Amino acid sequence: MMKFVFALCLALAVADATNVQRCVHHAGDLPQSTRIEGCTNPPCVLQQQRNAVIHMTFRAPRNMQSMRTLATAYLGAVPVPYDLGNNANTCNFLTNTRCPVSSGTSVNYTLRMYIETWFPVGTSATIEFRIVDDRNQPGVCVRVPIRISRSGKFIEGENELPRGIEAQ
Ligand SMILES: *[C@@H]1O[C@H](CO)[C@@H](O)[C@H](O)[C@H]1NC(C)=O
Repeated sequence: MMKFVFALCLALAVADATNVQRCVHHAGDLPQSTRIEGCTNPPCVLQQQRNAVIHMTFRAPRNMQSMRTLATAYLGAVPVPYDLGNNANTCNFLTNTRCPVSSGTSVNYTLRMYIETWFPVGTSATIEFRIVDDRNQPGVCVRVPIRISRSGKFIEGENELPRGIEAQ
């Protein structure tokens, strides 16, 4: 029974969208939906040496030959470009279609961002993730506050598990 309740809670948590914001430093509309795994209400706690996994659904604002994903972390007012490596090749991570995409196409996309250890534990930052096309024109953009945690550590009060599960 408890296992069932746990699984149900987990399923509900997994299905929730994340309350992301519109970007302030970059152009681009919000996706129709954004879900950062394990995070409903930011700041999202991201573990070092893990991939943060971000699912987006958006409509292509125009015909796009190819796309790139860029991330900028704001530590206070200081912008730090974050290198997404191969994960910056947006087209390789579309789950329901392929590039080129034509205007109006509904695109499902999963971004993985590896959290490097140079991002110190306890760091609070805000990240803007944006997708641009091959001519650097904006696609979508999301802004989300985050906090970096040590890998594999459960932090009391910082996880999104529904109340009651810890008590079992
Ligand atoms: C695309 O994502 C939406 C949720 O954002 C989901 O409902 C839909 O089933 C997905 N479509 C495909 C083909 O994966």
